[in-house]
Amino acid sequence: MPRIKDILYVRFNVSDLTKQQQFLDDFGLQTEIDGDLLLARGTDSSRYIYLAEQSAEPGLVSVGFAAESATALREIAAIDAVEVESNPMPGGGLIARLTDPNGFRVEVVTGIDNAAELPVGGRSAFNSGVAKQRFGERVSIEPVDCLVKRLGHVVLMVHDFHETFAWYQTRLELLISDEIVMENDGQEQTLGAFTRCNRGDEFVDHHTLFFIHAGQAEFNHAAFEVADWDVLMKSHYELKKAGYQHSFGVGKHILGSQVFDYWKDPDGIMLEHFTDGDLFNESFGSHKRSPGDLLGTLWGPEGVPGQ
Ligand SMILES: [Fe+2]
Repeated sequence: MPRIKDILYVRFNVSDLTKQQQFLDDFGLQTEIDGDLLLARGTDSSRYIYLAEQSAEPGLVSVGFAAESATALREIAAIDAVEVESNPMPGGGLIARLTDPNGFRVEVVTGIDNAAELPVGGRSAFNSGVAKQRFGERVSIEPVDCLVKRLGHVVLMVHDFHETFAWYQTRLELLISDEIVMENDGQEQTLGAFTRCNRGDEFVDHHTLFFIHAGQAEFNHAAFEVADWDVLMKSHYELKKAGYQHSFGVGKHILGSQVFDYWKDPDGIMLEHFTDGDLFNESFGSHKRSPGDLLGTLWGPEGVPGQ
């Protein structure tokens, strides 16, 4: 039985909770402030996919994963002899709190009550050049408050890829989708890897966590899935008009195939919108790819998201 279903939430410290709430609303999440805590959800049934508290030191606090079951959660907790506790967050459930070799806090949860799904919106059928699907009808894009469906992945810069991956593989049973390797003096060197959940025959995102072998520990970005290309582009122009800081995109990755659009939140923390990503199951296996494949795009700007 797989140990985790998926990534579930990211938790941050932010310098200004009200400003952050406005940004997240504009970014397409549905937010509420409960006491000192900012909670944000997407249209999927998870009660929260983004959490934040105000602090003079903004940054990542933890990454949350949904365990397959209470049994799976207990198995994970037992590896580090940490307690399985009642989750104090809305929706309750159980939580185990771990710390990875880089000092990143990892939370594994299960049994959280789901909320009702929200309207996804979307648009009328798409007429591509080769397959017409919309006849006698104008395009309409349904207006919705909540553009984001779910949290898709997190990218972490880590001290040592191999040590970090071994830690996550042991606990979360992640699989490598694409390992980025380069030849160095005849030796193969790993620059990082895209890793996905192992749910057997079930198809999952190309990556849930991407680890960059960096010799240092630093959060890179969190990526939120939106319904489709129209939603992504419409939001791109609205965020631009609202004066937010754009980071990188729009483009389409080679590895994972996502259409991407990277933004900076008010603290300069990078958050991504994506759509049309690859889905693989266990039988897709693990592959070695070049730095060129990592940095290249199917279309759009080349390079990596940064300033
Ligand atoms: Fe990403």
